[in-house]
Amino acid sequence: MRLDILTIFPDLFKPFLEESIVGRALKKGLVDIRLINIRAFALGPHLTTDDRPYGGGDGMVMKPGPISRALKSIEGSGEYPWKILLTPQGTRFEQSVAWELSRKEHLVLVCGRYEGVDERIRTLVDMELSIGDYVLTGGEIAAMVVADAVTRLVPGVLGGERSNREDSFEGGLLEYPHYTRPRVFEGQEVPAILLSGDHEKIRLWRRAESIRRTLEKRPDLLEKGDLSEEDEAILAEVKEEMGLQPLCRPGKNGV
Ligand code: 6GU
Repeated sequence: MRLDILTIFPDLFKPFLEESIVGRALKKGLVDIRLINIRAFALGPHLTTDDRPYGGGDGMVMKPGPISRALKSIEGSGEYPWKILLTPQGTRFEQSVAWELSRKEHLVLVCGRYEGVDERIRTLVDMELSIGDYVLTGGEIAAMVVADAVTRLVPGVLGGERSNREDSFEGGLLEYPHYTRPRVFEGQEVPAILLSGDHEKIRLWRRAESIRRTLEKRPDLLEKGDLSEEDEAILAEVKEEMGLQPLCRPGKNGV
């Protein structure tokens, strides 16, 4: 997969591209991530990438010209470059969107600044994405979020480590709890079933824990349906258990 990132702050991405799984995917040649400095396509003596808003008001607006020229510089890589503007006004980025994007050969992420981009920039892209309902100072961190989530879905990137089939949100559920050594940590024991060696029992226990957690922490995810018959049976059991032992639900924002 090829991934071009258009930004006025390319240096922000350096550590992200050197460390971790994304860095390894780059070295292995599984993804080709390129940083494109929008300023390199600015004109005039001051190489400005933003300007004052027509109609007045605070803040600066990103000019369409430099971004348009930067985008034109990457056309013609063979595959269609699917262009995404990172903006708080975009569609919410979710795991399902990450999967969709992971199937594209060539992605282009355009980092806008929070005060705003000239409206005509929207006509240069194929979609707009937001990573959540809060305001960041620029699209760069959002672009890293998208690049990270998409890269790990590219075949071969996770290698033998673990599959992404059981990740939180895959299959619409949160992940089951994990434990490693020591067997007892500050008086808290690892659930005995995980030491039993009975793989079928462990599979069912994990599934039940996954469903229990989702019901407790993110019941909205269960409303989307999509549970197998086995899962529905487990859900019914978990609900009954929880009925006997009413939960103290957290309030707004988990507090
Ligand atoms: Cl994509 N950009 C900015 N500036 N803020 C955001 C965002 C994007 N997503 C959530 N907040």
